[in-house]
Amino acid sequence: MSSQPFALPQTTPGVFITFEGIDGAGKTTHMDTLERLLQSQGREVVRTREPGGTPLAEKLRALFLHDAMDPLTETLLVFAARRDHLTQVILPALARGAWVMCDRFTDATFAYQGGGRGFDLQILGTLEGWVQERHQPDLTFLFDLPPAVAASRLAAARQPDRFEAQDTAFFERVRQAYLRRREQQPERFALIQADASPEAVAEQILHIVQAKGWA
Ligand code: TMP
Repeated sequence: MSSQPFALPQTTPGVFITFEGIDGAGKTTHMDTLERLLQSQGREVVRTREPGGTPLAEKLRALFLHDAMDPLTETLLVFAARRDHLTQVILPALARGAWVMCDRFTDATFAYQGGGRGFDLQILGTLEGWVQERHQPDLTFLFDLPPAVAASRLAAARQPDRFEAQDTAFFERVRQAYLRRREQQPERFALIQADASPEAVAEQILHIVQAKGWA
């Protein structure tokens, strides 16, 4: 099949950074800090999330998080939301040179649907190729920590969604799938020891950003 009818622009001057990890890993606080740092340097930052980030994808997100469905439906929904997000928000922002900070992206599909649910990884790879063509994040922070620690952080949080309500064994599979993804694409990932103190985690992130010459 030719991918021509769907062709996306191939090169973009912006920087695409994603944040991944099991629920309760503490990404949000550190995304806030990095966003402020980049903005203080006069950069345009587009902060977004998956599933979501466009009116259509946010509608799909609500279904995805709260309605029961089989794993294929779940996977197709999240990739449909991703395609809309990529074409409507992420690629246009990168094309004008913005810094896109996205809370989760396709690594989450490999981790949650692939690792957590056991969905076929080859099919995920095919869908990834169709939906994203060659586009991948420039950098992915992987917040890694034991599921038991993450669960204790989540215990005080809001009403859990379909994923947050899963047991420790599910999150251990998700964690291992994230780590395998990092082994396959080591140049893209920065591993963060997320069970450290918030100050120590912030320090790890700053170090990585400085090493890239971004701060
Ligand atoms: P969050 O935005 O609060 O982290 O919630 C999104 C939830 O959706 C989270 O539990 C992970 C899950 N998820 C998947 O299962 N697959 C995906 O591809 C994405 C992006 C998220």
